[in-house]
Amino acid sequence: MKKFIILLFCVLCAFPAGAQRQEDLSLPRPDSLQWFKDAKFGMFIHWGLYSLLEGSYNGHTLPDSSFPQGNSWYAEWIQPRLNIPFDEYRKLIHHFNPVDFDAEKWVLEAKNAGMRYFVITAKHHEGFALWDSKVSDFDIMQTPYKKDLLTQLVKACKKHGMKYGFYYSHWQDWEHPQGALPFWVGSRSDEEFEKYWQEKSLPQIKELIVNYDPDLLWFDTWDEENHITPQRRDELIRLVRKYSPKCLINGRICYFNPGDNIDFLEMHDNSYPKEILEKPWQTPATMQNSWAYHAKDYNWKTATRMLTYLVSNVSKGGNYLLNVGPKADGTFPVMATRRLREMGAWLLANGEGVYGTQPVAVKAPEGVILTCKETAGGKWVYAFLTRPIQDLTLDLTGAQSAEILETGMPLNFENRDGRLLVHIPDGQVDGCSLQVVKIKLAE
Ligand code: GLC
Repeated sequence: MKKFIILLFCVLCAFPAGAQRQEDLSLPRPDSLQWFKDAKFGMFIHWGLYSLLEGSYNGHTLPDSSFPQGNSWYAEWIQPRLNIPFDEYRKLIHHFNPVDFDAEKWVLEAKNAGMRYFVITAKHHEGFALWDSKVSDFDIMQTPYKKDLLTQLVKACKKHGMKYGFYYSHWQDWEHPQGALPFWVGSRSDEEFEKYWQEKSLPQIKELIVNYDPDLLWFDTWDEENHITPQRRDELIRLVRKYSPKCLINGRICYFNPGDNIDFLEMHDNSYPKEILEKPWQTPATMQNSWAYHAKDYNWKTATRMLTYLVSNVSKGGNYLLNVGPKADGTFPVMATRRLREMGAWLLANGEGVYGTQPVAVKAPEGVILTCKETAGGKWVYAFLTRPIQDLTLDLTGAQSAEILETGMPLNFENRDGRLLVHIPDGQVDGCSLQVVKIKLAE
């Protein structure tokens, strides 16, 4: 009996604490996730001190195999990749002066491209904060520019109805004496890392939430071996939930063990799943090979290729977070702007098949991507054609009409043997402009 009373006592004591923990970690209300599911397309920005170097340092340009770890295009990684001593690197702070930066221009460029949210590297691995941080003086206030960049961007996002969030490197930090380092540079003991975690990482994240009220936080891990244990992951999730009921958290907070309390999955860089995923997700993607602006990375993808990634992700329930690496003066490279405008123009004409759509359970033929939508007006299927096709056969029944979405040109079709056959006249689909066939189904 005594044992039973002790047990009961323990259960009663444990329950509220357990319930509390559950509550702290629980997902934000689902309506705060809905905007993310609807948004489909967002802008990612990689901008920091590394932008000044544009991928080259001291006569060397990334990738440069004369450095043992120099074989990467990522210009934001230039410091450890080209072995730049931190004391040298730190001096860049005296040169960061983006006098041509105009927050509204950036946000409008994103909006006109058809993007619905905006995510910027508030602090990347280099450790430099784009805002006026009371936690660290490795921040924008120590540059000749001396103005908080996030305040300006948040204001512009709110004005133009853009959701916004921050990339925050919670694990790697090459400025703090105890922040995590690339494996070839060094390692920290867990006690050392804890110091960085408590002194810089958590306080800066709190600062970002309290001062700027973001809609999402984008954390970054990729190695299985890292200091972000499930305990630290949950400590961070609890912190975010405590200060914001709406802020979404991505899966890279702990890539190999995100747990059940993150809000959406984050794919590897430029990675595209082949299947429909149940949980909301997105692919972070580059326009060049590098994230940060790299003047000698000439590998720009075409707008059509990027639109195809967007549409393909949407057809599997995912989003596409497309990166721009601005120059250090605060302007977008013209190559990025042209692509954004081309994508925006395509979405202007074809966005109906993207926004507000769902994945379709039907298997699409080679080179065809499908989405669907149900509105008060009926049920619709959209077929995106990535190659010239004259006879489009789909496993659909009860089609009532078929047309080219952009022009409204009616197409001949037949419902035959439980399948739909759409005839596309010669010259209507060229295979490089991603034309869309819109099909109305019987309700
Ligand atoms: C990787 C890289 C990083 C980039 C990120 C974007 O984690 O370390 O430079 O910011 O991916 O997805």
